[in-house]
Amino acid sequence: MAKNFYITTPIYYPSAKPHMGHAYSSIIADFFARFKRMDGFNVHFLTGTDEHGLKIQRAAEKKGVKTLEFCDELSKTFKDLSKTLNLTNNDFIRTTEDRHKKSVQFLWNELKKNGEIYLSKYSGWYSVSDEAFYNDDEIEDLDNKKVAISSKSLVEWVDEESYFFKLSKWEKPLLKFYKDNPDFISPKSRKNEVISFVKSGLKDLSVSRKSFSWGIKVPHDDNHVIYVWLDALTNYMSALNYPRVDDELFKKFWPASVHLIGKDILRFHAIYWPAFLLAAKITPPKKVFGHGWILSNEEKMSKSKGNILDPIEIIDQYGLDPLRYYLIKEVSFGNDGNISQDKLEDCINSDLANNFGNLCQRVISFTIKNCSGKIPEKINFEKEDLDILNKYKENLSKIRLEIDNQNINFYIDYIINSLFEANKYFNDQEPWKKKDNPLRLNTIVYSTLEIVRKVSFLLYPIIPQSSLKALKIFNLNEKDIDFASIGDNTFLKQGNSINKINILFNKIEKKND
Ligand code: MSP
Repeated sequence: MAKNFYITTPIYYPSAKPHMGHAYSSIIADFFARFKRMDGFNVHFLTGTDEHGLKIQRAAEKKGVKTLEFCDELSKTFKDLSKTLNLTNNDFIRTTEDRHKKSVQFLWNELKKNGEIYLSKYSGWYSVSDEAFYNDDEIEDLDNKKVAISSKSLVEWVDEESYFFKLSKWEKPLLKFYKDNPDFISPKSRKNEVISFVKSGLKDLSVSRKSFSWGIKVPHDDNHVIYVWLDALTNYMSALNYPRVDDELFKKFWPASVHLIGKDILRFHAIYWPAFLLAAKITPPKKVFGHGWILSNEEKMSKSKGNILDPIEIIDQYGLDPLRYYLIKEVSFGNDGNISQDKLEDCINSDLANNFGNLCQRVISFTIKNCSGKIPEKINFEKEDLDILNKYKENLSKIRLEIDNQNINFYIDYIINSLFEANKYFNDQEPWKKKDNPLRLNTIVYSTLEIVRKVSFLLYPIIPQSSLKALKIFNLNEKDIDFASIGDNTFLKQGNSINKINILFNKIEKKND
């Protein structure tokens, strides 16, 4: 079976600077991309910016700058953030690029050719903030204003000529598609809400706008721009050179393995997107995973609430890896999670500095003092060594399976537990009392070094910089990291010198300590 893996983040609206919610989606996607690469997959990891539509046009007008210039500037802040977050994305797509526009217009023509699009008139509610159409029963009054019940964002009444996509026709095929592809909507908890929405009846979807111009033109009708969600969703294929379906990238990576998204944009990904694709006779993605929100003061971040958390500020204060670790560990994946500086500091102090950092320093000092700084040569594993070492090998397939189910919490718990056991092993074996039994002392040191190597490999997708720093102990580099080798108990070359490394994580002095 071809080991190809294609993962995407949502493409972000460059209407304001990126915040922690955006950083979260991207870091999680990077975690999966790195894991799959270290497990021998060809990975394609895509992120980018979603630059059309009224939301962006109005944001640029408000600033008094040309829309494209506005997008250029803000899209760059997202691109820069990808570097700051140490993402390993293979591509960064902007929907204002020609490659994307061509792709969207081609898809439109396919839908038109297949009789899926017709011209009519839209009269109904529209939220610019969500770039979404809403039915009457999805609207409520809040402070004398009309808002969407789900997002509480303002809606306005729209009355204009519009092209429609025959979404209603896809109700049954979609239900069948969900049935035949039970993992398509993940986690499972999100599946029911989508299915019941579809079952409640789908109306045809307005897929063009006439009252503004910031978008991709409808082919053969310059008066209309294509609805921003039809435009945006296509990014996942335009980045693979669609419509060149014989192109190497498209052949290798479509259908996507997983679109990672926030739960607020599930309807677009789990209903509209597969419907567009089925209508264009293209295979839908294998999975759409809707993660929860990062809450700030128990609420979703938004400009209007003024509770935006800036990832750059946290990184400047604590460093990137602690933030990556914290987001991956503390937010139960799929659910909402409140970000708290206090818990972030706890993660740094207990998990990173104590459990991982100290273990590394202890075994380095011990090896330098007692084994001439070399990976011991004469060793003989005993039961207590094999008990701990073999566990890694025994758990490899389980870890792979859990990762394929996006069970990040399993993965991180596994690591935390391994570190706990590793520290316990070193303490219980008391190598400092074995100076008259060099074979035993050597074996304990070798085993502990092996465990440090294994855990550093496991930590690579979460805290790549720190993992690579730790691997310097053994002169190992990124290219040496291979998930399967975690099952090898004699990976480290005996007789090789080890290196001292600087402290991996500085402890934070907590105010209430
Ligand atoms: N442009 C659309 C996506 C198009 S994908 C074809 C969009 N952009 S967004 O910038 O508003 O949001 C991008 C992603 O960030 C969404 O998945 C959204 O759920 C996520 N987040 C926005 N705020 C968030 C939090 N506070 N927490 C976690 N993620 C959240 O929607």
